[in-house]
Amino acid sequence: MASIMIMVLAVIYPFIPVVEPSGDLLKLECEPAVGIAAHTTVITCHFRGYKDVKVDAVSLRKVGQNEPTFRHRIAKQQKLGDPRFSLENPAEGPSLKINDTMFSDTGVFDYEIVTNRGRASAKFTLSVTAKYKDPIVSTWPQDVTEGGPIDLYCNATEGYPTGTIHWFDRYGTNWTINSILTKTTKDTDSSKSVALSSKLTFNSIDLSLAPFRCIVLNSKYIKDGEKTIQITPAKQDAEDMAESKSNNTNIIAGVMVIGSLIAGLLFALFFFRRGKEQRYESGQPA
Ligand SMILES: *[C@@H]1O[C@H](CO)[C@@H](O)[C@H](O)[C@H]1NC(C)=O
Ligand SMILES: *[C@@H]1O[C@H](CO)[C@@H](O)[C@H](O)[C@H]1NC(C)=O
Repeated sequence: MASIMIMVLAVIYPFIPVVEPSGDLLKLECEPAVGIAAHTTVITCHFRGYKDVKVDAVSLRKVGQNEPTFRHRIAKQQKLGDPRFSLENPAEGPSLKINDTMFSDTGVFDYEIVTNRGRASAKFTLSVTAKYKDPIVSTWPQDVTEGGPIDLYCNATEGYPTGTIHWFDRYGTNWTINSILTKTTKDTDSSKSVALSSKLTFNSIDLSLAPFRCIVLNSKYIKDGEKTIQITPAKQDAEDMAESKSNNTNIIAGVMVIGSLIAGLLFALFFFRRGKEQRYESGQPA
């Protein structure tokens, strides 16, 4: 019995009219925005309920502050407040734009608009991130020997929020699990940043795995940067290589000397025989 009821409901449910909010209500909606410090941020907003909405005036206020951050009366071309803020395109709609985004812009905003269709308001959040600078890599000790110990460092600074660093060898093997990540956070009123330092330690390095690569990922695991670490073998190894090279040169020189001796000998033999033949030929009566 119950199952029949459920089936009947399932069949008629799609036909139950959805209760719409009263049609003549203008609505404003804004998407949460993520800005990049020192870059331009666009806060995407749009109207619901009407198509032909004309913006007359806007007022933006950060929650917790008394004064509006930014106000704009379109017809009067009157703008007040922080000059970094503007309407992205007043003719197109209510989206906002912030030039030179700052960490201090982080927060929740109240956005009020007066239009030809009445008033509307919305809240949105803005968070600010910063891209990590190109990583700086180093090795310790600087001179490494095959099978010896080595620490590889990969440092990336000035990013926000906290990201991470991953390690790979030349074959793409993931060595991250053997590394230690140190994070140092700087947080002042106007700026926030994290310095990342990752140390990958080998007690006994296999130099055929080099070069290594470190990849800096932001808080969303998107790549901000990467660097390749070349590992130069220490002097002893370098000398060994140079020696084997000079040995090769000696061998080549030896082969060349012996080669030219043989060639000389063959020449001598050839001329000797030709001389004999000529003498024999000239001895023949014409
Ligand atoms: C990277 O950071 C570590 C730890 O702070 C430091 O010991 C190392 O010298 C730094 N390397 C470079 C190249 O800055
Ligand atoms: C590498 O290893 C780390 C730590 O184990 C892991 O979080 C990461 O997803 C791995 N990356 C790839 C590309 O496999």
